[in-house]
Amino acid sequence: MGIVLNIIYLIATITFIVGLKKLGHPETAKNGNLIAAMGMGLAIVGTIFIHDLNISPVIYILIGLAILIGSIMGWLIAIKVEMTKMPELVSLFNGFGGASAALIGLVEFSKNVDDSMQAITIVSGIIIGAITFSGSLIAWGKLNGSLRSVVKIPQYNAINNIFFIGIIAFAIFMIAAGEGSQIAIYGLLAAGLIYGILFVLPIGGADMPVVISLLNSLTGIAAAITGILYSNMVMLVGGILVGSAGIILTVAMCKAMNRTLGSVIFGAFGGDNTVTGENKALGSIKTTNPSDVAVMMNYATNVIIVPGYGLAVAQAQHVIHELEELLSKKGVNVKYAIHPVAGRMPGHMNVLLAESNVEYNMLVEMDDINPQFNNADVVLVVGANDVVNPAAHNDPASPIYGMPILDVEKAKHIIVNKRGMNAGYAGIENELFYNSKTSMLFGDAKAALTDLVAELKNM
Ligand code: TAP
Repeated sequence: MGIVLNIIYLIATITFIVGLKKLGHPETAKNGNLIAAMGMGLAIVGTIFIHDLNISPVIYILIGLAILIGSIMGWLIAIKVEMTKMPELVSLFNGFGGASAALIGLVEFSKNVDDSMQAITIVSGIIIGAITFSGSLIAWGKLNGSLRSVVKIPQYNAINNIFFIGIIAFAIFMIAAGEGSQIAIYGLLAAGLIYGILFVLPIGGADMPVVISLLNSLTGIAAAITGILYSNMVMLVGGILVGSAGIILTVAMCKAMNRTLGSVIFGAFGGDNTVTGENKALGSIKTTNPSDVAVMMNYATNVIIVPGYGLAVAQAQHVIHELEELLSKKGVNVKYAIHPVAGRMPGHMNVLLAESNVEYNMLVEMDDINPQFNNADVVLVVGANDVVNPAAHNDPASPIYGMPILDVEKAKHIIVNKRGMNAGYAGIENELFYNSKTSMLFGDAKAALTDLVAELKNM
């Protein structure tokens, strides 16, 4: 039995690694996801039926029911969720992963804790799991917009950090003293939950991508700790893969936002941004229409398209691909400029454009496209705002100051398509819209681009 189960775990582990590798490219990502999910299914079935669990049939029935209910709920949520709501869902899933780790820790703590290594594992699982759970719920609320404006108390960072150090000190004391009181462990759980809330609450809107990937990695670490607790190889490897992939992503996100990892964890970086939508005497805007934009693009040599969150909201990925194909047929050199945090999840624009079969080599990453804006005759910004906001360069008081952006200002003509003058996720004004080279093409992205395509076809 032991050998069969180990072989099953080995196969599952290999599927996780292969799946993760395949997730690295949009063309193979779907298969990668399926392969890893199948491996996880195999590991679950193996654990339930081959592991020497020594449990009564009633418990088997309860486990079966839990899996059935969980699978139906997961399936229903997955088929219903809109693409733009994915980050919220990921946050919620992260939270559930953390909650599981914390609950397992509580259950194990109530049994006999044999040695200090086991105590360290259980206590770490409870702390990390609790922080991940409550932090992810706050992140979920922030992403769906219900927790946008938050009051930040003075000396917030200091209070937060002292609280965190207090939790660690208390945990060390408990382990060292071999203290097994249930009250103490529930106290630790409560402290972890409170810290998770305090940690995520003050983080400003545009910085949320970093927090989400950090919480994702914490979920993996919590799962790995549980794997150590049960000496379960597949849980351990799965957790390590999620934890390390999450950390790599967090570091990449920090780089994209020009933040340090330390400032994410201990700095409560980013402001509490509120949407203003006000014109702070930046001047006046110029508007344009699909017909004029069509003329401009028809005679352009180089066009760069900058997709943003609004493209996903409007589900305009197919019509933008049609526009790009039409322009290419007319001999215009077209490229897409991809900002690492455009949209609401890592790789959002890549996934969105892959959905409409845009050639992958037409998507150019920020560092490579930025030197090319000088040669662009027209830049078409579709539903992007923060990722093209020059305040990141010019305004030290701005919450996005220091974040690398797409340098669209260098292009000869800038067309910005959005529905109105609403702010982006960071909730701040964008002086690009008032630039003398910018013309605003107002309207829902799908409708505006459909009109633009129709005008171009008539030329
Ligand atoms: P945003 O700055 O959020 O701006 C999107 C703009 O799209 C809005 O100003 C909105 O203006 C417009 N819009 C909305 N619906 C539209 C529609 N149907 N048609 C046309 N325009 C529409 O987007 P971005 O530039 O992609 O920046 C992303 C932001 O989200 C960054 O601040 C980033 O830090 C943050 N964030 C990113 C992630 C990840 S990992 N990517 C996760 C969480 C948060 P109107 O309402 O006036 O149309």
